[in-house]
Amino acid sequence: MQLQEHRFSIQEDSALPNSSDIPPTPPTPRDARELFDLTGRLAVVTGGTRGLGLAMVRAFASAGAEVVVVSRKADACDEIVAALRSEGLKAAGCACHVGHWEELEPLVDRIYDDHGRVDVLVNNAGISPLYGKLSEVTEDLFDKVIGVNLKGPFRLAALVGERMVSAGGGSIINVSSTGAIRPTSDIVPYAAAKAGVNAMTIGLAHAFGPTVRVNAVMPGPFLTTIARNWDMEVFAERARTFPMRRAGDSSEIVGAALYLASDASTYTTGSILIVDGGAQWSMAGTGQGAPESQLEVNSSPG
Ligand SMILES: NC(=O)c1ccc[n+]([C@@H]2O[C@H](COP(=O)([O-])OP(=O)(O)OC[C@H]3O[C@@H](n4cnc5c(N)ncnc54)[C@H](OP(=O)(O)O)[C@@H]3O)[C@@H](O)[C@H]2O)c1
Repeated sequence: MQLQEHRFSIQEDSALPNSSDIPPTPPTPRDARELFDLTGRLAVVTGGTRGLGLAMVRAFASAGAEVVVVSRKADACDEIVAALRSEGLKAAGCACHVGHWEELEPLVDRIYDDHGRVDVLVNNAGISPLYGKLSEVTEDLFDKVIGVNLKGPFRLAALVGERMVSAGGGSIINVSSTGAIRPTSDIVPYAAAKAGVNAMTIGLAHAFGPTVRVNAVMPGPFLTTIARNWDMEVFAERARTFPMRRAGDSSEIVGAALYLASDASTYTTGSILIVDGGAQWSMAGTGQGAPESQLEVNSSPG
């Protein structure tokens, strides 16, 4: 009884902000399917022509959004747009190198000129080039990795995020990598860039909240073209130690992306959502079927 009285007195005395300081809670759709409905929304996906980006493009379009597909290659964008339109889905393409700072403002201007809005921005384009010894990483290579994976996403989020705030809402999704938290010797510049993406995501959530939400998806290993340079024998051994025992399929990124893009996640911002089949928890010698001896991990996808 005394406990209850105490609780009431805390509520009365606590320095809760005035109700005028608290943004209104957005209305929640009653039908669970409506939570993920993107009808009438405009989504931009960089690196949308292959792999995880293409899976997200398809998912957003099938959820009702019009999707702007961005990649360096105009013909690759056109091909995807034509395929989507032939299925009755809404899509447009824009060629742009997201590592080229000066191309990003014209890209954003063009999208707003053509479509008038952006509701969802997915900073997905990324590269993880191979190198030999660390001392052989050139300044050019280092700058490219930072440019595509970190600088470009920052600039796009800054340009689009401010316009989203003015328009009254939006969702920005940055695609990170579990390499950010499990860096290995073969992905040092990439891992550093993706760690930057994680930090940036939280900073941008503060900057654009409460109007615009900013989150990251942190994938583990997925068998996309980024995986073409992996030593698959080494990977197969390592995968035996993952809780899910395998790499991801591109389609398995879709649930996380739809959640963060849609009204299903109106109270989620500054989050880093891991989609890795549990790979971050893998350790040599763990998992069913793992050999008794410790596994050598020479390649670090993700
Ligand atoms: N696959 C994995 O295991 C894995 C794991 C962790 C994180 N990730 C992250 O997930 C994201 C997608 O990876 P993915 O595996 O789907 O890659 P992917 O299959 O290689 O596709 C990369 C996409 O990005 C585009 N792209 C590359 N450089 C670009 C640039 N400078 N400007 C604009 N577009 C560019 C490519 O199109 P063009 O060639 O036409 O430009 C393509 O559409 C990346 O950020 C990656 O770091 C992937």
